[in-house]
Amino acid sequence: MSELPRGLAGRTAVVTGGAQGIGAAVVERLCFEGCRVVVYDRSAEHGRAVVDHWQHKGHAVHLAVGDVMDAAAVDAAFAGVPAGWSTPTLLVNLAAGFVFKGLDATPTDWHAAFDPTIIGLTLITRRFVAGLPEHHADAAIVNMASISAHIAQSGYLTYNTSKTAVLGLTRCLAQELAPRGIRVNSVSPGTVWNANNERYHREALGLDRAAAEAAPEHGGKFLLRRFADPSEVAAPIAFLLSSEASFITGTDLVVDGGYLAV
Ligand SMILES: NC(=O)c1ccc[n+]([C@@H]2O[C@H](COP(=O)([O-])OP(=O)(O)OC[C@H]3O[C@@H](n4cnc5c(N)ncnc54)[C@H](O)[C@@H]3O)[C@@H](O)[C@H]2O)c1
Repeated sequence: MSELPRGLAGRTAVVTGGAQGIGAAVVERLCFEGCRVVVYDRSAEHGRAVVDHWQHKGHAVHLAVGDVMDAAAVDAAFAGVPAGWSTPTLLVNLAAGFVFKGLDATPTDWHAAFDPTIIGLTLITRRFVAGLPEHHADAAIVNMASISAHIAQSGYLTYNTSKTAVLGLTRCLAQELAPRGIRVNSVSPGTVWNANNERYHREALGLDRAAAEAAPEHGGKFLLRRFADPSEVAAPIAFLLSSEASFITGTDLVVDGGYLAV
């Protein structure tokens, strides 16, 4: 075999929300796979840090700063793909609205939850698709859902319904784009130990990672009795993007340490 079978090396990927957390781990993973990566994120500071880090290690990583709701910035990001890079054929939609409200949510709260997660996702997906050929595009999209898309959680009405909508959106996009050779899937992680979760557990609950994972109502809810590292979500995302997932579309891959199994 003359090359890796995953079919990712040399391809251009766009990762929204790629500056931090799971997104930064996806950028790392795609660098490792030999992709050229456009980080699309509204945080110039964190985006610059990630891009500088991987560029210094010799990887092809480019920063495009913008909000997923900003159609002009999305257009500029695709227009600004560095010369010599192929047209993006891989898209990872991670940017989302983090709004955790119950029935007391205001219309403003609902917009903050749904606008980036659903409308922003479709804006960037539409621009991505516009750059692809009508047939045999050999392209793949992975959207970020959550275990919260599959369950009810008290006080999480806004977040959980927006993530449930990602599942429906993924199926519909898979149907619409299959004739063009574009696969669309989602992943549903459980709790991933990132800076936000570290801060929440420390400040709101007074727990470090080990204590939180040992607590029955936190880490204990996962069959594996722990939270995920971001790299453990990045790996299945890379799989769904790759040619190893060539007959997988319109589905959701649960990455939850067994949370939904019980
Ligand atoms: N962390 C978890 O436990 C967990 C679990 C399941 C699903 N998820 C999902 O994974 C995704 C990433 O979560 P994370 O925990 O890594 O988040 P994070 O806060 O660590 O990173 C999110 C990144 O997205 C960027 N971003 C946010 N809104 C944006 C917008 N409107 N336009 C452009 N960029 C924007 C932020 O600047 C940031 O760099 C989200 O969709 C989240 O719902 C997270």
